[in-house]
Amino acid sequence: MTARPTHLAAAAAARLAGAGVPSARVDAEILLAEALGIDRGRIPVADDASVAQQAAYEALVARRAAREPLQHILGRAYFGPLTLAVGPGVFVPRPETELLAVWAARQVGRGSDRTRPARSAPGPGIVDLCAGSGALGLYLAATVPDARVVLVERDPAALGYLVRNVAAATLAGTVTVLAADVRDPGLPGRLTELLGTVDLVVSNPPYVPEGADLDREAAADPALALFSGADGLDLIRELARRGAAAGRRGAVAVEHDDANGAGAAGLLTAAGFAGVEQHRDLTGRPRYVTGRMDA
Ligand SMILES: C[S@@+](CC[C@H](N)C(=O)[O-])C[C@H]1O[C@@H](n2cnc3c(N)ncnc32)[C@H](O)[C@@H]1O
Repeated sequence: MTARPTHLAAAAAARLAGAGVPSARVDAEILLAEALGIDRGRIPVADDASVAQQAAYEALVARRAAREPLQHILGRAYFGPLTLAVGPGVFVPRPETELLAVWAARQVGRGSDRTRPARSAPGPGIVDLCAGSGALGLYLAATVPDARVVLVERDPAALGYLVRNVAAATLAGTVTVLAADVRDPGLPGRLTELLGTVDLVVSNPPYVPEGADLDREAAADPALALFSGADGLDLIRELARRGAAAGRRGAVAVEHDDANGAGAAGLLTAAGFAGVEQHRDLTGRPRYVTGRMDA
């Protein structure tokens, strides 16, 4: 027997809410659109769902009710203009990171205060440390004309998604993937070999304090992508020290735990960055710090 899509979505939303899924209604509609192969906005005017479509929808809803992340079920995540392949083994990009991406694009993109290079000069050299699926670096490579972006990631599973996303992206610049540990003392040399100069370093590193409570969706992200010492600042400490070398004469932007705005800013200042500023996300929480090297 066929069923009205709006009725299916309402029943699924109630089921997902009962399972503790945040934004149950939105997720129910996104999964229904997926099962029916239509845009979410067309659900109210869609034809009735066939028995096969209802079975497909039931399978998707059951996975979400078991708290599998929506993006794992879909196999994709949206980040600005990008659609990124994601799944088990790679961190799911978060909307709050888009604010850092927008800030970063302004530093080196059109309309920035940066003196534009002569036409024949190379475009800005940008490094994304801890690149994951490529959200930050690919955002910049897609939106900043002539950008030369190096994406650094050490986890083989994440690198698999990253390489796929690089191949699928429409770029305004060029991209190089470097399989490396950002704590490698030789990394700054490899970056300047690749880029000549580094104008901008961006990073959304692991920053969750060990032992912190996570919701079930976040717990599906790899531990390597999440945790960074007792206070969540271990890797940012390293990045501040080593980024001070890699980011000579350039800007830096680093995302952090919302409890660590002052801590992350203090680390950048202590490493010698100038003009260190704290930035909040759309919920008003401290979310990323920026600074620059003038040397
Ligand atoms: C929070 S995720 C962020 C991913 C991506 N930048 C984003 O915003 O979606 C952190 C990433 O850093 C990687 N990572 C952790 N420690 C690293 C290290 N020492 N060197 C290189 N990558 C590292 C993890 O594998 C993970 O992909």
